[in-house]
Amino acid sequence: MDNSDTDQLVSATRYHARTCHVRHRISPHSLDFSRYPQPFKRYEFLNETQMVRDMAGSELSVCDALDREPSDISRVDFKKICRILSLCYGVTLADRSRGILFRSVPSAGGLYPCQLYLSVTDIPDIETGLYYCDTVQGLLGKINTRPLDMKKILPAPTPAGAYLVITGVFYHSAWKYRERAFRYLLLDAGHLAESVMLAARAEDIGAGAGYDFDDQQLLKGLDLDVSCEVPLACLFLGSGNVREDGADTQPSQPVRPVPEPFAPVRYEILEKAFKTGSFVVQSRVPDEIPRVFQHRPSEIIPLPASDFCPEVSFRNAVTNRRSRRNFSKHELPGAVWAAFFRQIFSGIFSDHIPEETGAAAKNFLVPAMICQNLEGLADGLYTLSPNGSQLECMHSGSLANALARVCLDQAWISRASVNFLFLADLGAVESALGSRGYRHVMMHAGRAGQRIYLAAEAFDLGCCGVGAMYDTEAAELLALKTGSVLLYAVAAGPVKKKGTMP
Ligand SMILES: Cc1cc2nc3c(=O)[nH]c(=O)nc-3n(C[C@H](O)[C@H](O)[C@H](O)COP(=O)(O)O)c2cc1C
Repeated sequence: MDNSDTDQLVSATRYHARTCHVRHRISPHSLDFSRYPQPFKRYEFLNETQMVRDMAGSELSVCDALDREPSDISRVDFKKICRILSLCYGVTLADRSRGILFRSVPSAGGLYPCQLYLSVTDIPDIETGLYYCDTVQGLLGKINTRPLDMKKILPAPTPAGAYLVITGVFYHSAWKYRERAFRYLLLDAGHLAESVMLAARAEDIGAGAGYDFDDQQLLKGLDLDVSCEVPLACLFLGSGNVREDGADTQPSQPVRPVPEPFAPVRYEILEKAFKTGSFVVQSRVPDEIPRVFQHRPSEIIPLPASDFCPEVSFRNAVTNRRSRRNFSKHELPGAVWAAFFRQIFSGIFSDHIPEETGAAAKNFLVPAMICQNLEGLADGLYTLSPNGSQLECMHSGSLANALARVCLDQAWISRASVNFLFLADLGAVESALGSRGYRHVMMHAGRAGQRIYLAAEAFDLGCCGVGAMYDTEAAELLALKTGSVLLYAVAAGPVKKKGTMP
């Protein structure tokens, strides 16, 4: 892509279109391991506190964490913050031969480009201020004596004990994904946001998400260079106050990060894709969300009732979760897949602030599934009705082989019993919510993906996210209307166990 292309980048939809993969046209790219992104940022902290490693806490099951309405009764304290941070983004596996530290959330390419910052004004056992959360080394490093001034950042900040900001470092993802990196940053940020929400619930801490923050104010508050790292979501943890006296009463004493050992390669289009979404549109959602499919459903089937509910603890699921791709073609019993679907989609996005564009954006995200080998359900492509009670058949017969081809010929996708798909009409998103709506639908797809991963772990199923696809081929395969796209796919289903025959 030359500069004249990026100069014309005036909308997120255009960014998405410009970064489509086209078969035989992906330019060759060798990965430069001498410039492998660092797993965490380095600062000369004002002070640093080791996170407590005491993980004894609530033993809530995955099903309860996915289902439960957030409570706002508990206050956060240092121990709970530490547990939430290590559950949501801690290291769960070290691959020493390749030097990769795998985390509790999946991340495209295992690159973990998202960073977490904690702003504290109202927690008795943590000093007021702004902290960088290094969940790899397990420490909270103070980077400013002044916390974020939430009244400047959010139009109506929800009172909270602490605010957690998720950012994305462009280069950490662009090292592998180049111009397409903004897509992966958003999906990864969605996974992490959901991971925080669920970890908070597991600790009985009310949590919520804010997406309508003022980009400039948040960039300033975190002292970020917009060409390198950008804020993507702002989360509220626990009960507390938005201080009347404002954060300005604390002196501002920021510390700058230690520069990376080499100058990161910059892709101008990533910064532009972010900036085009800086404006927050205060419009209402249209009464009718445009359909993404060309056709109407051929059949409507009620989603079967099922009270199957595995008692796997949230903590164990988070710790043991991995991307598993060795799918088998074993039939999944009806009670299991019905409960699996219900767990994923009931209670999803319940933490949204209704007035926010983030809440409006969820209406534009259309979940669909390519199903095969599910007991009592004919193979086919289905969507879920908006209230989650019905499956609407959009195509009869399995499309799993074709999907595998479309997803850059990743053959293992063809064996998954369910390939969840997240679709959206980006034109409709943009005309209702502006370019910022793109950020929201992508992050929402990531959030749903995180729920699939955790539910799969609880149901003893494999799961793997799929961000790589030939975009136009995908839209053709699914018979999507012009302007509608596949944002993200997540494969799930029974996997071969060690020692069993295929
Ligand atoms: C947004 C996203 C996109 C992904 N896309 C792919 C993909 O196209 N192919 C694949 O094999 N794995 C994909 N993954 C899985 C990652 O490779 C995996 O999460 C990472 O290697 C870390 O491993 P873990 O999930 O086992 O911890 C994706 C994960 C995410 C979150």
